Amino acid sequence: MEIPFFVHPFIVLFFFFLLFLFVIFFFLKTNFLCNCEICQAYLATSWSENFCNLCDWYTHLLRKSPTKTIHIHVLRNTITANPDNVEYILKTNFENYPKGKSFSSILGDFLGRGIFNVDGDSWRFQKKMAILELGKQPIRSYCFEIVRHEIDSRLLPLLSSVSAAGDAVVDLQDVFRRFAFDCICKFSFGLDPMCLELSLPMSDFAVAFDSASKLSAQRAMAVAPFIWKIKRMLNLGSERELKQAIKLINILAQEVIRQRRKIGISAGRDLLSQFMRTVSDETYLRDIVVSFLLAGRDTVASALTSFFWVLSTHPAVASAVELEADRVIGAGCDPINSDQIRKLYYLQAAIFESMRLYPPIQFDSKFCKNDDVLPDGTFVRRGTRVTYHPYAMGRVEEIWGSDCLEFKPERWLKDGGFCPANPFKYPIFQGGFRFCVGKEMAVIELKTVALSLIRQFRFRSVTPCVAPPRFSPGLTATFFDGFRVYVDENEKKSK
Ligand code: HEM
Repeated sequence: MEIPFFVHPFIVLFFFFLLFLFVIFFFLKTNFLCNCEICQAYLATSWSENFCNLCDWYTHLLRKSPTKTIHIHVLRNTITANPDNVEYILKTNFENYPKGKSFSSILGDFLGRGIFNVDGDSWRFQKKMAILELGKQPIRSYCFEIVRHEIDSRLLPLLSSVSAAGDAVVDLQDVFRRFAFDCICKFSFGLDPMCLELSLPMSDFAVAFDSASKLSAQRAMAVAPFIWKIKRMLNLGSERELKQAIKLINILAQEVIRQRRKIGISAGRDLLSQFMRTVSDETYLRDIVVSFLLAGRDTVASALTSFFWVLSTHPAVASAVELEADRVIGAGCDPINSDQIRKLYYLQAAIFESMRLYPPIQFDSKFCKNDDVLPDGTFVRRGTRVTYHPYAMGRVEEIWGSDCLEFKPERWLKDGGFCPANPFKYPIFQGGFRFCVGKEMAVIELKTVALSLIRQFRFRSVTPCVAPPRFSPGLTATFFDGFRVYVDENEKKSK
């Protein structure tokens, strides 16, 4: 039998030598032996005795900290929930806090040179184009049409069929992920993966995309990054899976780009067709669009899942949403354009309040380029990861008042209108230069879906909704056990 090349004694010796060098380098570079209470609790995972999620433990520490900043030395990570620091990192001293090489190497294989994963000129170029394209009225209308069509032709029929089946159960999180994937693929590529068809089919593309984002996120969780780098070098385990998933995404993306070129880009209303007018490099086009898929899929699904999870224990909020819609749009009338949706201030307040407590992106990190001092006096050494933590910020009394843990849409309303929060106090869509370009579209999408479902159904959770829910580790907040519900027709609608 032939011996695989990597079992050759010299290769094995060389591998262990490399491993030894990596380990020495790792111990020199990190404070892995830090003895402080927080680092010990982190390393021994003893925090999990009292907290359901790592983000809840961080929140507890941040709430207690006088500066609202803490350090996890073993991760070389400074974490802050202080709005002054957040403004400083994202705006005032933006150039000193890029995403950095560590982040781009973690997501590099999956996202390539896409906007999410680059700094400097490449980021500036894509950001300018994205703002220009997403700001155009035709593309916004196109987005609204896609969302409406997906709701009417797939989402409502699917949930009606569950409701008609009596005590059938559906995982609302799974439904929203499928919904959001169909929408963002149509919007970005002009491609319909049909994930939300009645039979809930598994699309190869969606599976590969899921797998690539999950496995890339796992790299970010590693205390010792050299381990995934070695696994990648040897094409082993999760790194082998990641490679296969990315290969499938690339094949599909290339095919879509070729098809688009064949048909002609002038007729296409999707984002890819718009970008193809300026960019000709196929790999770059693939990277640009894949970043949009990542940005616009899990975030939207996460926001919808938590919103309906919160709503299941706040039925009065659902009734208030209905009342407002009847007044603004008309009882029994569907919204005909995004302007009508925009005027639903109470609904917007309810969604923003839900994202305050359950942000789709719970934390976000940058890397400090040169030694610096944050506005709260915290010294940050060059190379340190600096994380701002929207999940914790939503629970800080000094920011939101003594009722910060309560779900109160009213806190967003003033004189009958919606009153936005300072983006550094509420960085759910990030503030400063790297703000989310999809924010307006996302808000219209969330409101349109939420309204359609509230008017037609009521959801009862299969298990009691005990806060906080347990989250899976990953780039976007995902409920560990999904959100399984019974679906009832809204009594008001059935009368
Ligand atoms: C509830 C929904 C959404 C939330 C909470 C959200 C949140 C965010 C956040 C926190 C960032 C900063 C990420 C970082 O730099 O690491 C971001 C960036 C971005 N988002 Fe969103 N997003 C949402 C929906 C969307 C949608 C629907 C799109 C696309 C149509 C989109 C496109 C983008 C893009 C392109 C960026 C990169 C901006 C840059 O790097 O300058 N987002 N988003």
